[in-house]
Amino acid sequence: MIEDIDAILKELEQIQNEAELSEFHKSYLSKTGKLTMLMAGLKDLLPEQRAEAGKRFNELKRAVEVQFFQKQAILRARAVNEKLKNDPLIDITVPEIKKMEGSLHPITYLTRRIAEICSSMGFIVVDGNEVVTEFENFDAVNIPFDHPARDMQDTFWLTNGKLLKTQTSAMQNEILKKYGPVVSAIFPGRCYRNEATDASHEFSFFQCEGMMVGKDISIANLIYVMKTLLTEVYGREIEVRLRPGFFPFVEPGFELDASCPFCHGNGCSVCKHSGWIEFGGCGMIHSNVLSKADIDPNEYQGFAFGFGLTRMAMTQYAANDVRLFNSGNLEFLRGIKR
Ligand code: PHE
Repeated sequence: MIEDIDAILKELEQIQNEAELSEFHKSYLSKTGKLTMLMAGLKDLLPEQRAEAGKRFNELKRAVEVQFFQKQAILRARAVNEKLKNDPLIDITVPEIKKMEGSLHPITYLTRRIAEICSSMGFIVVDGNEVVTEFENFDAVNIPFDHPARDMQDTFWLTNGKLLKTQTSAMQNEILKKYGPVVSAIFPGRCYRNEATDASHEFSFFQCEGMMVGKDISIANLIYVMKTLLTEVYGREIEVRLRPGFFPFVEPGFELDASCPFCHGNGCSVCKHSGWIEFGGCGMIHSNVLSKADIDPNEYQGFAFGFGLTRMAMTQYAANDVRLFNSGNLEFLRGIKR
């Protein structure tokens, strides 16, 4: 038996690769392997020899196992080194990458900040869908099939007839039905438009929308909410002004301008020397929009506003190219520049 073990150890020593090693395991160490069989042969010995022989056998078997595992470790390490040497994608000469602290993406940071400010004014924050129905994106917000406003918001249509929402307004109907008729909600979210990409256009961008509906909500409430939101976001007193503007889902509708937070109205490159930044659209919710959400427009009214969250982030991060937000440029993504 001892000679057998010696031969086995020699065989093990000569093994050169993992395939041979696994063959070896099969023929000696597995359940049907020769070593296991030898062990079974011990029962044929005389009882007085059995204990001593058993002990000796176990020692030898252990020796084979130890050598087996050592061999396995050596062969594995050799295979990994071989792979590293030949794989063009792994460069083992690159110095260790220094520990890097993560940070929130500018859009995430801004969304959370807006949510915080609006929550403190009593708004709920609703997480909007990206895939919506044609009804939600258009018909429910007073943009019927033949309305020219549809052309300005071409998007990506899915084969099931749904689409990637072109505006956060697509959430209005669902929110009004679910939480109305008395509701204050903001709903930031990703929007899509079928656009050629350049420094100021992306096919995907973020908007933030808000609505307040109740018995006696007025434009004065709208102005107060916008002024408070902007003042808090920019951390300095902001003036707002309304100009007439058309959006099918509000009547009257306005374009909302904010006094430039960076030059206090004196004129700078951000506000194109006008002292004002075009901030977004707003107005009193159209009676058709309320009716489509089963709210009686004679009893309830409210305002809605919507603005480009990505655009707002651009002003804060001094980004002159909207594509930077999707660029993976860590230097840009990490810090507020203004
Ligand atoms: N949905 C409009 C847009 O994408 C913005 C808006 C929202 C205007 C709510 C008025 C009221 O341009």
